[in-house]
Amino acid sequence: AEKIILDCDPGHDDAIAILLAHGSPNIELLGVTTVVGNQTIEKVTRNALAVARVIGMTDVPFARGAHRPLVREVEVAESIHGESGLDGPVLPEPTIELDSRHAVDFIIDTVMSNEPGTVSLVPTGALTNLALAVRKEPRIAQRVKQVVMMGGGVNVGNWNATSEFNIVIDPEAAHIVINESWPLTMVGIDVTHDALATEEVAASIAAVGTGPARFVGELLEFFGATYLEAQGFEHPPVHDPCAVAYLIDPTVMETAKVPLDVELTGSITLGMTVADFRAPAPADCTTQVARSIDVPKFWGMIVDALERIGEP
Ligand code: BDR
Ligand code: CA
Repeated sequence: AEKIILDCDPGHDDAIAILLAHGSPNIELLGVTTVVGNQTIEKVTRNALAVARVIGMTDVPFARGAHRPLVREVEVAESIHGESGLDGPVLPEPTIELDSRHAVDFIIDTVMSNEPGTVSLVPTGALTNLALAVRKEPRIAQRVKQVVMMGGGVNVGNWNATSEFNIVIDPEAAHIVINESWPLTMVGIDVTHDALATEEVAASIAAVGTGPARFVGELLEFFGATYLEAQGFEHPPVHDPCAVAYLIDPTVMETAKVPLDVELTGSITLGMTVADFRAPAPADCTTQVARSIDVPKFWGMIVDALERIGEP
């Protein structure tokens, strides 16, 4: 099983990413860390703990991370995720306690105490915690197996014309993480916009018939309504679990090795992820981008995780 730390900002699709990581036998979830993004750090952390209760996660540490981006002011995605950051279902009171460490220290301790090359980092929110961690303990850059991030996109944006939310809310952090020496895979919105929760998908999730499956159904209902209203999508794209899916089985995606960078000074392109496809990637290129996803295989993983989680 792949050892991962999931760094997230739940968030409807983040919640499903937690569930997929927890429910997959191919993932060993070493911890869940939270970062400001879809809502404030207080809200997304509470949401993460509530999700843990819904799906019966009791033995995985949760650590709270950055309360603001490195340079920019806090900018939340209330239009997509609502006032709580996880609007729709009734959220239960959390029953597990937070780890006493800051997420940045949790990430450093976990990477440094595991064998080199065994721990992968899976950020599905802004890159603030990862950037702070690698600045505080630069040795993690060599020690991490790989970073698989949901964020950015090749030639497509959702928060401005060219840029995706997770990158644009903390572009300086994304710049640090993407330009580090660790191997990095970007799972961007050009690919996750294919991971749509259609009626057929909703029906296959409902057919699982458990509490967690109903919870996912309620998440998707709210997410679908806001995605229609705010971005004109007929079905909501469920971004974040795509990054987890790649760790479960890399054949779920086609990838291409390509030099990647982040725009920090553009007056209308702030936070754009720029993939340079002009020539074959040089041998020392550390970055790759997802190009396509096997959508039925992806949803099969979600249903499989729900079936394994059962009725906790
Ligand atoms: C990303 O932004 C957030 O709102 C989602 O949780 C996802 O991580 C998609 O742009
Ligand atoms: Ca997210």
